[in-house]
Amino acid sequence: MPRLEIRPFEEADLDAAADLLAARHAVHRRAEPLLDARYEDPAAAREEIAELWSGPDASGAVALAGGRAEGYLIGVPSPNGIWGPNIWVTPAGHAVAAAETIRDLYAVAARRWAADGRTAHYALVPATDPALVDAWFRLGFGQQQVHAVRETTSAGTPAPAGVTIRRAAPDDIPALAALELSLPEHQARSPVFSSGPTSTLDEIIAEWEESIDDADYATFVAERDGVVVGSGVGCDVRVSRSNTSLIRPARAGFLGFAAVLPQARGTGVGQALGRTVLHWAASAGYPAAVTDWRASNLLSSRAWARLGFRPAFLRLHRMIGH
Ligand SMILES: CC(C)(COP(=O)(O)OP(=O)(O)OC[C@H]1O[C@@H](n2cnc3c(N)ncnc32)[C@H](O)[C@@H]1OP(=O)(O)O)[C@@H](O)C(=O)NCCC(=O)NCCS
Repeated sequence: MPRLEIRPFEEADLDAAADLLAARHAVHRRAEPLLDARYEDPAAAREEIAELWSGPDASGAVALAGGRAEGYLIGVPSPNGIWGPNIWVTPAGHAVAAAETIRDLYAVAARRWAADGRTAHYALVPATDPALVDAWFRLGFGQQQVHAVRETTSAGTPAPAGVTIRRAAPDDIPALAALELSLPEHQARSPVFSSGPTSTLDEIIAEWEESIDDADYATFVAERDGVVVGSGVGCDVRVSRSNTSLIRPARAGFLGFAAVLPQARGTGVGQALGRTVLHWAASAGYPAAVTDWRASNLLSSRAWARLGFRPAFLRLHRMIGH
């Protein structure tokens, strides 16, 4: 193969990048057919890349061999302060003919990101391509978040003995709010160490009072001995701000939230809530369901994998300058 030439990405590279992304997605779909077939079309792939490229402070690199594009990488900063001074390589932000090329592309693109003081790097990578994930790992990245899919099911949803699952009602708001708070409390601890901003119980109660009747959300509670010990929420995946673009199946329900009170965990309540949301999604006509979790959340990573969710994209993360 001719030597790779790596140079900054330009508008004129969009067509070649679209071909590479459409080809990557076609391979991805052979491993995970629930992903959206639309992006196998270079025209749809191009739209995604063009949108990224038009974003403020987008920058990147392209790899050429004998004048032919062998890969590209585009990063765009997120204005959301929780990510620190950052750069994001979103699902449409990279595609390579050979996995190793991503390392050459990153080496060039990251020069500018570092020079701009952007020290937190995030990349969404097809989970079903071990060579590509490995190439990112050999750039110092690790797994932060898992985006997963599975088929919905209309099979029954047996709950463990003594547990009843039902739709939430206004009287459940205090319990729903306490459960909602239990997620950031759990994720703030070791080994997740996720320190996003947390609302107070009163703020969460006020939000639930506004939204309990919102028909876009299907909220379920699990009761044991008449006491609510868990909750699960289903909605359309289009509500999710992090499951977008190539991550998003054409039509999917979203397991947007689930929590079980600490004393009731590990007894099958979470599985039953998850199955209830899968059942709701099937009855609402969604063929697929999506959820995502922190890779380091021991509870959700095990519970949702056990529920049959298959990783489709991994969000990889690297801090530079440390
Ligand atoms: C994630 C969460 C909702 C899962 O709910 P849960 O009730 O703890 O999960 P389950 O008990 O159904 O399943 C978890 C484990 O219990 C086991 N289990 C399932 N049914 C069981 C039963 N009837 N008896 C005993 N154990 C059982 C499962 O096999 C699983 O074990 P494993 O970890 O060894 O694979 C819950 O742990 C939680 O609230 N975590 C904190 C908040 C959170 O992370 N939410 C998810 C955000 S993405």
